[in-house]
Amino acid sequence: EASDAKKMIEAHELLKKFYHHLLINTKEGQHALDYLQERGMTREVIEQFEIGYSPHSWDFAVKFLKSRGFPLDLMEKAGLVIRKENGEYFDRFRNRVMFPIHNHHGEAVAFSGRILGEGQPKYLNSPETSIFHKGKILYNFHQARLHIRKLQQAVLFEGFADVISAFKAGVSNAIATMGTALTDEQARILRRNVESIVICYDGDTAGVEATLRAAELLEKAGCYVRIAAVPDGLDPDEYIRTYGLERFRHNVLEASGTLMAFKMAYLRKGKNLQNESEQIRYIEEALKEIAQLSNPVELDYYLRQLADEFSLSLSALQQQLERYKKTRT
Ligand code: UTP
Ligand code: MN
Ligand code: MN
Ligand code: MN
Ligand code: MN
Repeated sequence: EASDAKKMIEAHELLKKFYHHLLINTKEGQHALDYLQERGMTREVIEQFEIGYSPHSWDFAVKFLKSRGFPLDLMEKAGLVIRKENGEYFDRFRNRVMFPIHNHHGEAVAFSGRILGEGQPKYLNSPETSIFHKGKILYNFHQARLHIRKLQQAVLFEGFADVISAFKAGVSNAIATMGTALTDEQARILRRNVESIVICYDGDTAGVEATLRAAELLEKAGCYVRIAAVPDGLDPDEYIRTYGLERFRHNVLEASGTLMAFKMAYLRKGKNLQNESEQIRYIEEALKEIAQLSNPVELDYYLRQLADEFSLSLSALQQQLERYKKTRT
């Protein structure tokens, strides 16, 4: 119902402001603020992303929402409180750093709460609700949208901290999928706003695999994709904290390459190309990738590149390529 949705959003907006106040202005929130500042988050970005703190209490939100006249059964549907068997309610989010998640109109519709330090789950998220469909929302899209349009480019990250660190580095067109695989819906939303997307996922194995999937999906949606690879298995936030903003911009973002270049680099990893049999294996694997290309200009380009690099005849590569094309997946 429309008025229910309105109330659910209003509850999120009010709680967001209160959580933020607790983080910034109270003794209760001091250890959370310390935690964020140790991670390099400045007062400015804490304001910009409206980050907050949910207190160490089973009924802070319950009391807060009740006192403002929100029906608790509706607040349960909003994912903010949980109902016990005896009919009492308790807070979903306790003693966590709170990241509000906004819909594309800029209304808070969900939260993700990070544990302070180590523990499980690292991020506790709002469940799917009538106002929060995770697969249709991109983190920070509401703030980034105008910048994305102006710059005619979006930079796609995995997580909250990556978007925030990148923002600090001057990357205002940053958005994130929040850890889950990019959906068709999200790809379409992006394509409606921009053609050119830079994927900057975590440098670990999961991030590399997610990059390949997201790139494919975005290309299918009609986007022009580049990959900004983060080295040493770091994530963008860790990279920025280790090497600084300038190196991130220069060595990661501006050094972004094509999807094929990323795949080639991935295939090379762990292979000794001085070794003959490993070299041949690399060439075959690279050829299989090139055979998947539907754009003949691109195909020709990478084929020549491979021929040049290993001093092979183009015709030999072409012959082998035809075989792989037939087994195209
Ligand atoms: P990561 O595991 O890469 O976390 O998950 P992170 O963003 O680097 O987190 P920090 O730096 O340790 O704080 C990427 C994203 O996946 C979602 C979050 O959106 C996170 O930012 N995620 C991760 C969850 O929703 N729940 C989890 O338990 C973990
Ligand atoms: Mn709308
Ligand atoms: Mn990750
Ligand atoms: Mn990460
Ligand atoms: Mn991280």
